[in-house]
Amino acid sequence: MILDFLGDLERTHSCGELRASHAGQIVVLMGWVNRRRDHGNLIFLDLRDRSGITQIVLDKELVPEGHAKGEHVRPEYVVAAVGKVSLRDADAINPKMPTGEIEIETTELLVLNDTRLAPFSPSDEAIQNEEVRLKYRYVDLRRPEMQHNFRLRHDITLAIRDNLSQQGFLEIETPILTKSTPEGARDFLVPSRLHAGEFYALPQSPQIFKQILMISGFDKYFQIARCFRDEDLRADRQLEFTQVDLEMSFPRQETVFGVAEQFLAAGFKAAGVTLLTPFPRITYDESMRRFGSDKPDLRLPGLTDVRPAFTDENLAALQIDPALPVVALRIPNVGELSRKEREDNHPSFDLKKGAKFIDDFKRLAKGFPEAAVKVRELAGAAEADFVIIVAGDPAHHIKASDTKFEGRLSEREINVYSAAGNFRTELAKKYADKHGAFGVTEKVVKDAEPGAPVDGAQAFQPIWITDFPMFEYDAALAKWMPAHHPFTSPHEADMANLLTDPASVRANCYDLAMNGMELGSGSIRIHRKDVQQQIFQSLGISDEEARARFGFFLDALEYGTPPHGGIALGLDRIVMLLAGAPSLREVIAFPKTAKAIDLMVEAPTTVTEQQLKELHIRVALKS
Ligand code: AMO
Repeated sequence: MILDFLGDLERTHSCGELRASHAGQIVVLMGWVNRRRDHGNLIFLDLRDRSGITQIVLDKELVPEGHAKGEHVRPEYVVAAVGKVSLRDADAINPKMPTGEIEIETTELLVLNDTRLAPFSPSDEAIQNEEVRLKYRYVDLRRPEMQHNFRLRHDITLAIRDNLSQQGFLEIETPILTKSTPEGARDFLVPSRLHAGEFYALPQSPQIFKQILMISGFDKYFQIARCFRDEDLRADRQLEFTQVDLEMSFPRQETVFGVAEQFLAAGFKAAGVTLLTPFPRITYDESMRRFGSDKPDLRLPGLTDVRPAFTDENLAALQIDPALPVVALRIPNVGELSRKEREDNHPSFDLKKGAKFIDDFKRLAKGFPEAAVKVRELAGAAEADFVIIVAGDPAHHIKASDTKFEGRLSEREINVYSAAGNFRTELAKKYADKHGAFGVTEKVVKDAEPGAPVDGAQAFQPIWITDFPMFEYDAALAKWMPAHHPFTSPHEADMANLLTDPASVRANCYDLAMNGMELGSGSIRIHRKDVQQQIFQSLGISDEEARARFGFFLDALEYGTPPHGGIALGLDRIVMLLAGAPSLREVIAFPKTAKAIDLMVEAPTTVTEQQLKELHIRVALKS
């Protein structure tokens, strides 16, 4: 088909803009053909741009040339229509469309571009194959859901940026080509052409730079910062992602909470959701006991300690380890499950952790009637609730440490709690669709009128997790390992025990969780060189290693470092929650697949010999 030139035609309105009040005006619209209907003398084109859809009419008598072109136009062609806004007949009004009262009586149609047939159309209701979507991402992004997600992302980001600026934070960019940062993932490395054999690392976060900005007296810094981590991908993990990153001088933990609550509430408000502040808090130990997770989902009932329901003889007969917790989890409103249905759930349980479970209450009630009744009573279970007991398996030998450190959960205790917590999450996902609390979130997200305030109190449940242990004991290595990055300060009161009793040391750090997802993490930092050196020492990082990796930072700490602290929240995760999306790929324009590939640009790829040579690199592939 012969394409038209645009000439000096300018568009006057977007495709979502026109209403009955525009009737009679001559307008110029441009966009993609969403749908075409041929009624002989009349051809209707639904013209789409990001703002919406307007129906344009090509009447053979009125505009024979335009009508003739319209016969060849196909979905996704790019066209311009000049014409008059006219009111539709009463029976042709489409109340579902904001522009449904009008149509354009076209006087001129320009076909600006045609299209190859993509494997799917943006107007398809459901597109199953994600790989195809990602390969043809430019077409995929035209879909209204995707357009909505990125409008949402923009609105949230803008609101957060504005809020932090109002709270006195300065946005400062930090380098992308830098040196390894210790966030615990693998670095992406960039070979240097000018310095043979040397590499830059992409930042896993702006952590060290933001601390240095505090030393430089900026007082309050923030950045919508791109971070890079070479780790295995999951629905909520990408190789490159964006943090709302901030740091401030002289804060208490409370101060950071207040700042983060404010900017998060502003971001949620931009999506029409009201978050109640202050957010609730829970210590790490309590979170493990009550939810079996350090990122608890408060939309569902927590775990219950049901040890008192059993006598010692019961436990022995049921082969439950009496030294470990006996906890019940409850999923509301599941109704009675058949044996087959229960067995289908079993693969979600992580047996490796040395825990076992009882999900057959009929059997339990036969053998141990009193215990069965008491368990349901303690768990507060209604008739239709599904209850499962998770306990320690005495027969299971695992590499976990039995060592009990005063006041702390042992590794085996944690294993039982987290086996219960993970099972709870998996089952909740499965049964929530039917009746459960997750449905509330989906409903809030789906039904929300753009811009109308929604009470997020039930649907989005934030919680601060505090008092994480500073160190975790690695039984295999027989060594204390840092639970966080090594700039996290210990509680001042626990400082004296750093080398003598590491188990007792609490970290001055905190996480923010929402609906079972870790949204953010931060800490009050170490601001003294002597303490920083002590921490490196207690982590078994030698002086030489510390100097090689962080020498510049240790030096900087000696130049008048104020007490400081901060936090970083995953922006992609915030948007994912508010978009009701199942994966970060729905809210990142050009994401990587689970196999770490960009299917559209086809990255990663090999490079030329010449490029390798300039970078002083030789590729050695074992075939
Ligand atoms: P942390 O490593 O916990 O802390 O990261 C903070 C938040 O960033 C998000 N996030 C991710 N999102 C998507 N894909 C990933 N691969 C990914 N990794 C992390 C999460 C997480 O909670 N410098 C510290 C913060 C600080 O101490 O101030 C840091 O980066 O939402």
